[in-house]
Amino acid sequence: MAKKGDLDEWSWLSKLFHWVTAGLIFIQIPLGFYAKDLKLSPLKIDMFIWHKSIGMLILLVVIMRLLWRIRSTIPLPIAATAIEKALATAAHAVLYGLMLALPLSGWLISSAANFPVKLFWLIPLPAISGPDESVKLLATEIHIACVISLICILIVHIGAALRHHILLKDDALKRMWF
Ligand code: HEM
Ligand code: HEM
Repeated sequence: MAKKGDLDEWSWLSKLFHWVTAGLIFIQIPLGFYAKDLKLSPLKIDMFIWHKSIGMLILLVVIMRLLWRIRSTIPLPIAATAIEKALATAAHAVLYGLMLALPLSGWLISSAANFPVKLFWLIPLPAISGPDESVKLLATEIHIACVISLICILIVHIGAALRHHILLKDDALKRMWF
C-alpha cells in the first residue's frame, strides 16, 4: 500500500503518469466518438486502429501507474473536511477503475466481434473471447456506460482542482504540476 507521507508535492514519476494518462484520455474520448460516427471507410478503420492502440497504451500506463502508486509515498490529502477527503478518495478510485474497465471492455468488444486488435498496425494482440454477438453487445454497453461515467467524474475532478486553485487558493493543483 502507498504510504501517506509528509510530502509537499507528488513525486516526479506520479506527476508524469498523471499528465500522460490525462493527455491520452483527452485524445481518446473525442477520437472514439469521431471514429464511431464515420461511415464504413478506410478512414474509419484507421481511426479505430488509433483508438484501440491508444486505449491499450492507456491500459499499460495505468497498470504501471498503479504499481508505482502502491510502492511510493504520496502526499496527505489537502481537503478540509472528512467528507471531502472521502469523496476525493472515492472519485480517484473510480477514475482508476474506469481507466482499467474502458480498455478491457473495448478489447472484449473487438474480440467478440472477431476484429483482432493490432497495436499501431504492428503488434497483434490475442483475442480475450471467441466471436459472440451477445458478448459484443454487452461489452459495448459497458464501454459506453464507462465513457459517460468517466466524462461526468472528470467534470467534477477538474472542477474540484480549479476550485482549490482559484477559490481556496491552496496548493492542490500546484503540487500535481511540475
Ligand atoms: C485538466 C485536467 C486535470 C486536472 C486539472 C487534474 C488535477 C488533479 C490534481 C490537482 C490531482 C491531485 C489531487 C491531490 O493532490 O490530492 C489529481 C489527482 C488525480 N487525477 Fe487528475 N486532473 C486532470 C485530469 C485527469 C484525468 C483525465 C484523469 C484520468 C482519467 C485524472 C485522474 C486522476 C487520479 C486517479 C488522481 C489521484 C491520484 C492518486 O491518488 O494516485 N485526472 N488530478
Ligand atoms: C481509456 C480507454 C478508452 C476510452 C476513453 C474509450 C472511449 C470511447 C468512446 C468515447 C467511444 C464512442 C462511444 C460510443 O460508442 O458511442 C468508444 C467506442 C469504441 N471503443 Fe473505446 N475507449 C477506450 C479504449 C478502447 C479500447 C482499448 C478498444 C479496443 C481494443 C476500444 C474499442 C472501441 C470500440 C470497438 C468502440 C465502438 C463501440 C460501438 O460500436 O458503439 N476502446 N470508445
